Amino acid sequence: MKFSQEKLNKVNEIIARYPEGKQKSALIPLLHIAQEEFGGWLDVPVMDYVAELLHINPIEVYEVATFYTMFNMKPVGKYVLEVCQTGPCMLRGSDQIIDHIKNKLGIQAGETTPDGLFTLKPAECLGACGYAPMMQLGKFFKENLTIEKVDALIEDLKAAAKN
Ligand code: FES
Repeated sequence: MKFSQEKLNKVNEIIARYPEGKQKSALIPLLHIAQEEFGGWLDVPVMDYVAELLHINPIEVYEVATFYTMFNMKPVGKYVLEVCQTGPCMLRGSDQIIDHIKNKLGIQAGETTPDGLFTLKPAECLGACGYAPMMQLGKFFKENLTIEKVDALIEDLKAAAKN
């Protein structure tokens, strides 16, 4: 297991930002790169590889990776619908949004559709409460969600996946 040369260059550049002995500070950006590079989730050998690069114990990587919902601990679909379910989003209908996605895609929270396209992943506050209800989709926030917007988004993603 090894990063591509391009990613390894990026990894080394990030590690070099921190003083000697403080390389652990690069952990979160490295986990993002690792997740992107190795199939969208962090398998144990991937986390061990990151620990090796940072000269830290694997348990230090596991602790961080399992704490943040942005890191996936099992394989996920091509599109991960991370719907915020914290108070402000809940008050603006996130429960109905989540239920709608479950029914539409035939999956429960944490599951992936059989075609490997969608994973539904309820999340805690993503810092966009003023635009509730919202979800994170990769690097993008989808805000002020309605059932209609969710339907349109899912159809757009299905179409994009075909191209
Ligand atoms: Fe949903 Fe903050 S409560 S983004």
